[in-house]
Amino acid sequence: MPDSVMRESVLRESETHTLVIGGGVIGCAIAYECAKQGLAVTLLDKGTIGSEASQAAAGMLGAQVESHHDGPFYELCKASRDLYRTWTDELEQISGCSIDYIANGIVRVALTETDEVELKGRLPWFGDGVKWQTREQLLTLEPTLGEEVRGGIYFADDHQVHAPKLSEALHAALRTLGVRMIEHADIEQWLLDEQQSHVRGVQLADETIMSTQTVIAAGAWSQSLLEPFDLHLPIQPVKGQCYAVRPQKPVIGHTVFTKGCYVVPKLDGSLVIGATEERSGFDKSINPDAVDTIQQTVIKLLPELARATFERTWTGLRPASADGMPFLGKAPRWDNLFVAAGHYRNGILLTPITAKLMSALLLGQPTTIDLKPFAVDRLL
Ligand code: FAD
Ligand code: GLY
Repeated sequence: MPDSVMRESVLRESETHTLVIGGGVIGCAIAYECAKQGLAVTLLDKGTIGSEASQAAAGMLGAQVESHHDGPFYELCKASRDLYRTWTDELEQISGCSIDYIANGIVRVALTETDEVELKGRLPWFGDGVKWQTREQLLTLEPTLGEEVRGGIYFADDHQVHAPKLSEALHAALRTLGVRMIEHADIEQWLLDEQQSHVRGVQLADETIMSTQTVIAAGAWSQSLLEPFDLHLPIQPVKGQCYAVRPQKPVIGHTVFTKGCYVVPKLDGSLVIGATEERSGFDKSINPDAVDTIQQTVIKLLPELARATFERTWTGLRPASADGMPFLGKAPRWDNLFVAAGHYRNGILLTPITAKLMSALLLGQPTTIDLKPFAVDRLL
């Protein structure tokens, strides 16, 4: 029997309504929302579910602390933060997993005069009663702040979750909802119509999957995945290295954040500290010096952490779009191809709103937020 015939005879063929490529929090959450609404969903990951950027994240829901100016991105972040508690309550129920939501805010401190001036410049557009706090006022919130802390802002509504647990919960919920998940999936070929405007499905090594619609949600890898569709989406990997320490007794009750460094207290008593920003391609290697570099700022922030026990360090690749905002929407020129990628430093925060908006698009419903600022072709 010729090779091609042999191959066809062993190839399985299946059908799905919505095919999601990428099993990070973004792909999983889109699959979750679509499955809840009755769509037949198949999700593919080239590795294992939740094992890339989504497992590396510190879990801050930093709508205010991580926004540097007013505009649609800030509004999107706040909308997701507003959804978080209710959205994850339901996720916890469906999955039976806790995601360790902690409703303590983030103390954003200035260690230098320049940072203080820059931070004070943001106050007018924060609104919502967000005020500058003197050093003395901040000490009432976090008494162990270092002597160099000049003052800062307390973002009471910027809460946090445990990012790896969020991925686990999504994974478990997808199982409960009957979503087909294929790990270690190697896409060999896209099946496209002759007009190059419609995606018919995808061919894996041992299976052809025909789909009604497809979503690319592959984080930092989305650019290369979109090349076959003649889309050159500006998304680059930006490596972030974090580490965890364990103090002898609790040192902080809130996340403490400054320029280039944050310390996030977790429920188990450990502190997640991050993070570097390195543009070094898809290299995920750990740099042993990175911990020392970050630790120098940590000690200025919270001197007591000099004595904390080091536990482990890890990296992840943030999917950074050229303008820092995610791409959310339909791919230009394709009638059934969608993109949700480029969430950069805020993918954990933006998970619920991305899932809600994308599932609305996929179900042909109106979206609650205008997606024009996040259009897939805005930078092409
Ligand atoms: P990923 O989690 O990277 O998932 C992409 C998935 O696509 C992967 O599972 C990958 O295997 C799969 N894939 C790739 N190529 C293919 C292919 N060809 N076929 C099939 N599957 C494929 N965000 C916050 O909101 N708060 C934080 O505190 C925070 N802290 C962070 C700290 C660090 C150190 C880092 C690195 C990131 C942090 N982030 C944070 C950002 C957040 O982690 C990301 O924005 C988010 O995880 C992106 O999710 P994603 O699903 O798009 O990407
Ligand atoms: N949002 C924190 C980080 O990306 O490091």
